[in-house]
Amino acid sequence: MALKGSLFMGPERVIFGCGVVSDTGTYVEQLGGKKVFLVAGKTTSKLEKFKEIEESLKEKNINYYLYTESDVNPTDNQIDSGCRIYKEEKCDVIIGVGGGSNLDTAKSIGIIATNPGSIRDNFTPNYVTNLYDNPNKNAIPPMILIPTTAGTGSEVGAWAVVTNTEENYKGFCGGWMCLPKIALLDPEMTVSMPAKLTASTGYDALIHALEAYYHRYKMPQTDMFALSAVKRIFNYLGRAVANGSDIEAREQMLLGAMEAGYAMNTGCALIHSSGLQLTSKFGLSHGETLAIMAGPVMRYNTMACVERMIEVAEAMGENISGLGKLDAAYKAADVMQRFAKSVGLLTMLNKNDHDPTKIPTMAKIALENDNTYGNPRIPTLVDLEGLYKEAYIDL
Ligand SMILES: [Fe+2]
Repeated sequence: MALKGSLFMGPERVIFGCGVVSDTGTYVEQLGGKKVFLVAGKTTSKLEKFKEIEESLKEKNINYYLYTESDVNPTDNQIDSGCRIYKEEKCDVIIGVGGGSNLDTAKSIGIIATNPGSIRDNFTPNYVTNLYDNPNKNAIPPMILIPTTAGTGSEVGAWAVVTNTEENYKGFCGGWMCLPKIALLDPEMTVSMPAKLTASTGYDALIHALEAYYHRYKMPQTDMFALSAVKRIFNYLGRAVANGSDIEAREQMLLGAMEAGYAMNTGCALIHSSGLQLTSKFGLSHGETLAIMAGPVMRYNTMACVERMIEVAEAMGENISGLGKLDAAYKAADVMQRFAKSVGLLTMLNKNDHDPTKIPTMAKIALENDNTYGNPRIPTLVDLEGLYKEAYIDL
């Protein structure tokens, strides 16, 4: 039976501020943890700031197993083997530290720590239309998530992206039973991010907020976070890219990514689903693929959400006085593209580096992606091919 109303969810506690990770041990104690499964990227695990997390666990005499085998795109096999170690080590709390992939690894290991089978048995079909789905699964073990990027917002979200190697696709796992107990947002954890990663992860957060704001399943609870995130990220991403030690910009970006993460309770839309193909075909980073597809997709969407596009343009500082509504709305696509360029992201494809004969395949796969059906305007195959063509500078 379909459930009524719009579903908005988040962690039990969100703790924000410089230095909050040094209290990690106390929070594990509060969660009743005896042994922690600590998931972190290899580079992250060597950071000076990471040592603060380890020290705080030692201070409270809490044992932990450090697991650094999580990948940029976690696969089902990695998750299954990670969970075997979790069980062998008799852990009872999971901490995820890192970018979205590390946090998603932590969440996915949590899903099969308390549910039978492989992570492959726990993918959610029709993610966008089944956000309300109650898969009747057991809740994950108590979990603390600590982001080191200001991007995915995975630390406040109920979903994890995992690659299914048997059927060769990236899918969603999770739902309400996959929410972390605590998100620890420490801006100092993000200062070591290089400029390029700051730009691409920050732009990812911006597109999460945008796609939530005009999403087919937008809801009052996400609207307030979405537009606030657009404004905040527009105001602070450039500063964080220009000067990684600008702690105010790092704070604001971490907040912006959190707001965008909350907004993403709606799911994503066509910028994400069309961009995904540019990663698999040309190896472009997630943020870059969004910077490339944002312009064409936003122009395509404008007729379906004129008022909201105007609000986005205004949130990004565009002067729309004296313009007709349609002209004002199209300003949102223009500024989104210019903003990507201003923070150093690639915004166009070219024939030399990005083989255009792949367009029909990319369009076909993007049309099958769940996120396409969260878009305010549902494209045809021909529409999608046109959007990819528009993304080329020389086609
Ligand atoms: Fe994203």
